[in-house]
Amino acid sequence: MHSLNVELGDRSYPIVIGSQLLGDPQYLLPYIRGRQVCVVTNETVAPLYLERLLEGLSDFDKVDTIELPDGEAFKTLDTLNRIFDLLLERRHNRTTTLIALGGGVIGDMTGFAAACYQRGVDFVQVPTTLLAQVDSSVGGKTGVNHPLGKNMIGAFYQPRMVLADMDTLSTLPKRELAAGIAEVIKYGLICDAPFFEWLEGNMPRLLACEPEALAYAVDRCCRDKAAVVAEDERESGRRAILNFGHTFGHAIEAVQGYGSWLHGEAVAAGMVMAAELSSLRGDIDAGLVGRIRALLAAAELPLAAPEGMAVQQFLDAMAVDKKVLDGRLRLVLLRALGTAQIVDDTPRELLVEALRNCGAV
Ligand SMILES: NC(=O)c1ccc[n+]([C@@H]2O[C@H](COP(=O)([O-])OP(=O)(O)OC[C@H]3O[C@@H](n4cnc5c(N)ncnc54)[C@H](O)[C@@H]3O)[C@@H](O)[C@H]2O)c1
Ligand SMILES: [Zn+2]
Repeated sequence: MHSLNVELGDRSYPIVIGSQLLGDPQYLLPYIRGRQVCVVTNETVAPLYLERLLEGLSDFDKVDTIELPDGEAFKTLDTLNRIFDLLLERRHNRTTTLIALGGGVIGDMTGFAAACYQRGVDFVQVPTTLLAQVDSSVGGKTGVNHPLGKNMIGAFYQPRMVLADMDTLSTLPKRELAAGIAEVIKYGLICDAPFFEWLEGNMPRLLACEPEALAYAVDRCCRDKAAVVAEDERESGRRAILNFGHTFGHAIEAVQGYGSWLHGEAVAAGMVMAAELSSLRGDIDAGLVGRIRALLAAAELPLAAPEGMAVQQFLDAMAVDKKVLDGRLRLVLLRALGTAQIVDDTPRELLVEALRNCGAV
């Protein structure tokens, strides 16, 4: 078992990572202060893991469960209202604790519900996707989508603890696992060169869902993200490096229509583009770009733009990305393996060349 602390002053919280944690009450109970709990999950995860989680919660006065429909399409204010309806109907008070059991969609919504319900109640996260374990459960961003923009309604709100059970990843569809691995590789690239090297030697173990290897990787990613977030909780500076590959990736997601490429798949191709551009600028050598491609390929992730996607489509989509401040395109690029930098003076010709090197037409 691994555990670490996300250091955010009086909002600090632990992340516990390992196997066979879900049904064992000793991990969650110390962080639940009242006598009421409400588990928020979805129709896919509930049949797999709800019963095991509830076994450890039998001593509370009130244990409610809400099963939401599955999917990013339901990450909305309407769905959030269903959580509030249940909490009010069942008379949950300010001492209640919400428990998010699921992937990032459930985690983001439950966290935001906790931030709003009676002006803030406790919540804990039990993330069941690799992406949620290494990314969305660390750092306190919560929220829902609006028809005019993803994650546009939300709050910074930290959980009381995070319980990441590697055994839950065994049922995750392979594509979802690989998409999570894209974010794992990202940490190596932006801030943890030794971890990147470890990944080069251990990718088959992760793809085979070996709990030991997964727990090591999740622990490492959470430490890396926690260190970045501790420096810059509200994303005024350094936290932006976590968006490595994302400006390109968001362009792919926007043009392809959300849902056809998984977020992590788009980020994988986006990281190749960012690495190509870093190399064209002379900041890293071509050999490193080759290693990045090889590691992503080993995880069966895409390395190139979607078939037929045009350079101009990238440029248009990237111009509306929220990372554009004062009309300048700000990109997270690499200065070396394990070192990211934020750059806002990239010549357009280099950007176009990098996109072409990655299959954009
Ligand atoms: N808060 C943050 O900092 C942050 C960071 C990154 C992403 N996010 C958000 O996270 C969301 C994406 O998260 P995600 O990739 O976990 O997607 P998700 O929550 O939609 O989960 C992916 C799919 O896997 C299913 N699933 C979950 N756990 C499972 C399991 N153990 N076995 C089988 N199936 C399982 C889900 O029901 C869903 O169908 C997005 O909404 C994104 O905006 C938030
Ligand atoms: Zn991401």
